[in-house]
Amino acid sequence: MNISFADHKLPRAGILLLTVPKGTTFRGRVAEIDKKTGGALKKAAKAADFQGEKGSFAELMAPKGVSAGRVVLIGLGNPADLTAHDAEGLGGKIAARFEKGPDKELTLWLDEAKGLKLEMDELAARIGLGLKLRSYRFDKYKTKQKENGKPKLAKAVIMSDVTAKARRTFGELAKVADGTIFARDLVNEPSNILYPAEFAARIKAGAPEGLKVEVLGEKQMEKLGMGALLGVGQGSRRESQLVVMRWDGGKKGEAPVAFIGKGVCFDTGGISLKPPAGMEDMKGDMGGAACVAGLMQALAARKAKVNAVGVVGLVENMPDGNAQRPGDIVTSMSGQTIEVINTDAEGRLVLCDALWYTQDRFKPKFMIDLATLTGAIMVALGQEYAGIFSNNDELSEQLFGVGEREGEKVWRLPMGPAFDKMIDSRFADMKNVGGRFAGSITAAQFLGRFVNDVPWVHIDIAGTAMSSPASDINTSWGSGYGVRLLDRLVAEHYED
Ligand code: BES
Ligand code: MN
Ligand code: ZN
Repeated sequence: MNISFADHKLPRAGILLLTVPKGTTFRGRVAEIDKKTGGALKKAAKAADFQGEKGSFAELMAPKGVSAGRVVLIGLGNPADLTAHDAEGLGGKIAARFEKGPDKELTLWLDEAKGLKLEMDELAARIGLGLKLRSYRFDKYKTKQKENGKPKLAKAVIMSDVTAKARRTFGELAKVADGTIFARDLVNEPSNILYPAEFAARIKAGAPEGLKVEVLGEKQMEKLGMGALLGVGQGSRRESQLVVMRWDGGKKGEAPVAFIGKGVCFDTGGISLKPPAGMEDMKGDMGGAACVAGLMQALAARKAKVNAVGVVGLVENMPDGNAQRPGDIVTSMSGQTIEVINTDAEGRLVLCDALWYTQDRFKPKFMIDLATLTGAIMVALGQEYAGIFSNNDELSEQLFGVGEREGEKVWRLPMGPAFDKMIDSRFADMKNVGGRFAGSITAAQFLGRFVNDVPWVHIDIAGTAMSSPASDINTSWGSGYGVRLLDRLVAEHYED
């Protein structure tokens, strides 16, 4: 969808949308237009029992007196309560309601609303962001889609008194949306198409100017001693990859912030094979890596004033004559040995080497890893919240705050020695599973043994990265969860 910003001017055709704060239905602009329609707009609002409630609509078809084909009122609710995330939701609702056409174009007329908490440019830009995110489709493999099933709405013009500013604010947010969409595409892509080398190639192809991308293959990882990561990919015909992305937009020499992603391009479980039902969902087991790739793209595209590193471990977990077995002991890059009790607990094996590598090479300010790590996180938190685990209260609280505001929510779960004990092994330094209880926490304890005291948060996104409930701004299977959360974390707390 083409989203643009302009000064107020009545459109010649298409849909004219007017925002209405709760309880103020017929004032100012709305009253003027009602007059032009000879009172028909008021009548339509009454017939729809429209009160300006947030996200409610009233629609007048083919009105006389104005050239637009439809005049539509959309409720803002109480302007003092309207958050940025609510504004995105409004954009999403508008896209959902009008995307099927027949109109190809809509004009959203924004007027100053009394008590509005958001800046007008932010309101305009966030509505634009919602329109953009909601209109995302992944239909490239649908060769027989009927013409009448395709979205028709192609253009949205957002009119306000702050056109230039709104355009600028949207310009920045649109890059974050592009990063989110990049992540969604990667998650939705099937595993016969998206294997580790292809994932790496897409990161390179999608890299904005200034984003440095290095790709390490199996030989290089062997040299580094990444026995844990390599063990997971051992049964696959596809070569494992480690991709390192760097964006240096901050002060020279300042320690970077670092993001690490689990990129299991398909997780069969390996020799500890998963049951067939629902296994197709495991094409999304690279959701953490997709988020890191989308985030780094967004940071570089909007030229964020920060030094940032993104590291993703890309593998495929397959059963095979050469696959690793339960009971195998692997040596991680850190030197610590791991007894692989269950080959389906592979994400932590990938991440432990990626985490160690990141802290060792970059000495980052903090590390945040994202992973579709455990089914247990959905048992604990459902699909609305991602679970976070951390050795640092400040970073956890920052993430929590940003998550609440952006609508990508996180909830912290505990860590501690009693949980850590559960992964001690009889034969090696640790084992890769800790039993049935506290499955998400023991997974985090495992990762915690590879962070070397760097401030760190692990985000378990198994419930939020894929197959999560549809929202106003997302109907895609792959949600792109985390890109906005981490981009805004950086914007609010870590840019110079
Ligand atoms: N990728 C899965 C976790 C997962 C499950 C993500 C469902 C998304 C949806 C992970 O590799 C896994 O298999 N975890 C096991 C761990 C167990 C063997 C300790 C799990 O959650 O059952
Ligand atoms: Mn697994
Ligand atoms: Zn997995």
